[in-house]
Amino acid sequence: MINTAAIGQFSAAFRKDFSELMRWRRDVRSFQDTPVDAAALARCLDAFKLAPSVSLTQPWRLVEIKSEGARKTVIENFKSFNASALSGADGETAQGFATQKLKGLEVAPVQYAVFSDGAATEGHVLDLSSIPQVLDYSVAAAIMQFWLALRVEGIGMGWVSRFDPAQLQADLDIAQSWKLVGYLCIGYPTADSTEPDLQTRGYETRAPELELLAR
Ligand SMILES: Cc1cc2nc3c(=O)[nH]c(=O)nc-3n(C[C@H](O)[C@H](O)[C@H](O)COP(=O)(O)O)c2cc1C
Repeated sequence: MINTAAIGQFSAAFRKDFSELMRWRRDVRSFQDTPVDAAALARCLDAFKLAPSVSLTQPWRLVEIKSEGARKTVIENFKSFNASALSGADGETAQGFATQKLKGLEVAPVQYAVFSDGAATEGHVLDLSSIPQVLDYSVAAAIMQFWLALRVEGIGMGWVSRFDPAQLQADLDIAQSWKLVGYLCIGYPTADSTEPDLQTRGYETRAPELELLAR
């Protein structure tokens, strides 16, 4: 029997599984405090090596936030940036978002600050005059691939973006040419769902159909 995957073809069963994978991927806000399997995490990190990037610049830079001091810095940054939401002054929705994400930052066993390196263009033929954000988009595309890879391993990820990025960069001693794209909380979820958490909580609704325009 031919191994179709070896020649870049995928079976109907795989297509079905892949569709299920996308359905079950979630932005995870609630984590078990169980350590993440190191071999599984290493397999997932390979997603970055395989990701697309403009001019193959591979501009993603990952910083694992491991030490107690670095974790504290991140949490303080998040708290001060989201102070009004966390103090209850920002409306129920914003409070809900901020409180849940704070819990993720406090519990998630693995955390990465992911940056886009503006200096990654050096040595590449690249014209940024058309869409200057292409490096950042490349990093976001790689994160998406990583997110799916994690889910295959039963690991969840929550994407946090509400920080003071300049402060975070200074506190973590990050190179000037790097720009924060996302802060990722990673661990085993306390629950799985096919529905976005914000939808389950009644804040938002996923559009049932893709609106596709034609010209
Ligand atoms: C670029 C990006 C930034 C995000 N930042 C935040 C954030 O700061 N806080 C938050 O609660 N969720 C954040 N999320 C998660 C979204 O809220 C989540 O993806 C959305 O509600 C849909 O849920 P799902 O990912 O489970 O499908 C972010 C997601 C993306 C892609």
